[in-house]
Amino acid sequence: MADLTTAWKALEAAAAGARCRRIVDLFAAEPERLARLTLSAAGLDLDLSKQPWSLADLHASLDLAAACGVEVARARLFAGETMNASEGRAALHMALRAPKGSDFRAQGEPVSAEVDATRVRMAAFAEAVRSGGLTGATGKPFRHVVHIGIGGSDFGPRLVWEALRPVSPQIDLRFIANVDPAEAVFALQDLDPAQTLVVVVSKTFTTQETMTNAQTAKAWLRAALGPQGDAHLVAVSTALDLVTAFGVRADQVFGFRDWVGGRYSVWSAVGLSCVIGLGAEAFEGLLAGAAAMDAHFQAAPLASNAPVLLALAHIFNRNGLGRPVRAVVPYAQRLRLLPNFLQQLEMESNGKRVTADGRPVAHATAAAVFGDAGTNVQHAFFQLMHQGTDAIPLDIIAVREASEGDPAAQTILLANAVAQAEALMVGRTEADVRTELTAKGVPAAEIETLAPQRTFPGDRPSAFILLDRLDPMRLGALLALYEHKTFVEGVLWGINSFDQWGVELGKSLASRVLGELQGGPAAAHDPSTAALIGKLRG
Ligand code: F6P
Repeated sequence: MADLTTAWKALEAAAAGARCRRIVDLFAAEPERLARLTLSAAGLDLDLSKQPWSLADLHASLDLAAACGVEVARARLFAGETMNASEGRAALHMALRAPKGSDFRAQGEPVSAEVDATRVRMAAFAEAVRSGGLTGATGKPFRHVVHIGIGGSDFGPRLVWEALRPVSPQIDLRFIANVDPAEAVFALQDLDPAQTLVVVVSKTFTTQETMTNAQTAKAWLRAALGPQGDAHLVAVSTALDLVTAFGVRADQVFGFRDWVGGRYSVWSAVGLSCVIGLGAEAFEGLLAGAAAMDAHFQAAPLASNAPVLLALAHIFNRNGLGRPVRAVVPYAQRLRLLPNFLQQLEMESNGKRVTADGRPVAHATAAAVFGDAGTNVQHAFFQLMHQGTDAIPLDIIAVREASEGDPAAQTILLANAVAQAEALMVGRTEADVRTELTAKGVPAAEIETLAPQRTFPGDRPSAFILLDRLDPMRLGALLALYEHKTFVEGVLWGINSFDQWGVELGKSLASRVLGELQGGPAAAHDPSTAALIGKLRG
């Protein structure tokens, strides 16, 4: 096996070669390309053949993965070793979705029995709410659930709900994340407190935004129902003492452990609102799909391992070709929130500039991720994707069968997904454009200025992920695919993907500024910050 430096050099040399050729030409040069670069895993079809790597470059990438110890790291992850060294924790979200009766251990401590018990409690509680067995303070059944949380305590549940929710749900599930009071006002404004359950989700139960919104919701319940309103509070947290102090009764508290990172937590009790909204069976399907991807990630050789190959394709673009930005476009309105979810997953996990042992990283780390639903984005940023000065790699996620609606519209949606990937890779030559304009009788002088503007450089890479249906299992597999892809990248970059020290400074400065905005003494600031505080203090 190559040593690390040699393996990185080989990847960079491979990428230098990629700059001198076009992706589309590789199909003729490599007859087995399509077969080698497409694979199925846990119900997902992945096509990486429109990536800039040749098959030889793929080998260089796989050598790099081997040299970086991906297999050893993967084994340590699943064994519950201390992967998050700066916080002294395991990162064992796979335990949350493992088949019942598994035997996962976090830093040696058996955890699966507790996980199974929590799953049973969540299902029973959700069923009690859904069936009307559990009623509110006035005896009415619950019709609305308000989920309050932010970051990892919001993105996953919000995405899962939007992806899987019935068109006319029995339970009206709403979310409040932002401390902007507008979000709480809009979420609560037409709800009947007597029929509303408020689920407060916070790993730490100290997050400023969540605690502010939780107090707002508690006051809203109490204003209508008196102190009895507290019976409508449910809490999900690792900080059980703080939850009790907030006034949530013990049988409505759901715990999870510190080895569940916030952005990996949708599989835990953090997903309780989704269990209530979708039913336990759907949530179990989500877990089973993720578990299927876990099994694939654990067992498949690196060369046919979906999370590993997706990570390597992204690394080839990021490190080999120096591309600092990546787009994600789900051609599925129900997956509209996937880019937001991935922003936290990838950028909070891998947006790091030092290694797990505190040294500067040797290679650029996480790309910035942006995106939204296709086809809408075709009328927004796709101009830049096709003709801008930078090539921005794109992940396209498409779903064969619509969950609802007009099948003809779904076919149009799919045609767009496929065509955009083709257009980005193949482009359109200036010669073609000139021929077409000449045939249309456009004057030669006009062709001179028009042709370059109507030319598409092409050679812009995409990864295509196809799901037959957007069902709980496939959604679970998709999210787990990206989780493990993010982990593999972190291993290659030598960073701890499971901490997030970078969010702390802003939080503590916000507390200081808040004191000043509330009339406290002025603190020392740079002139710009001091001026803004001065304006806001009035
Ligand atoms: O954004 C920082 C962060 O700590 C995330 O990692 C986390 O998902 C989010 O805040 C919410 O934290 P909590 O669940 O503790 O409220």
